[in-house]
Amino acid sequence: MKKDLLNKKDIKKLVHSFFEKAKHDKILEHFFNNVNFNEKKHIATMCKFWENALFYSGNYVGNPMQTHMDINSKSALNTNHFSKWIQLFNETVDELFVGENAETIKQKAFNVSTILQIRLFK
Ligand code: HEM
Repeated sequence: MKKDLLNKKDIKKLVHSFFEKAKHDKILEHFFNNVNFNEKKHIATMCKFWENALFYSGNYVGNPMQTHMDINSKSALNTNHFSKWIQLFNETVDELFVGENAETIKQKAFNVSTILQIRLFK
């Protein structure tokens, strides 16, 4: 029986499961397969980002806009990458969780994705 996303442990489970999909996805994998990418660090950052987005933990420090602009300047991002990212994220949330927070986190991911794309592709 699936339950809602309720705590840090649930976020960790989501982030790990999502990343397993993203790093093996044909159109996304190359972004994560370079020498400068640190998987452990990335996962820790993403956990903090989502803890803050969902539970207002205040423990995330970072600049997703700048990060993705840097990624884009090394290897161009496009709308297909974002669509795939969102598809895999929603799929992972729905596989593991059900409830209000599960809906909220998908909406927040979509909102961030939209803002990133407006800034990157305008
Ligand atoms: C187009 C698909 C995307 C790709 C290929 C991608 C790739 C990456 C990569 C490679 C990093 C790590 C950079 C590093 O550590 O050097 C990163 C960081 C991050 N990504 Fe994405 N990303 C995508 C879309 C998104 C979306 C839609 C969100 C929405 C929540 C998101 C949220 C983040 C956040 C919060 C970070 C950490 C930023 C920081 O504090 O530096 N990404 N992304």
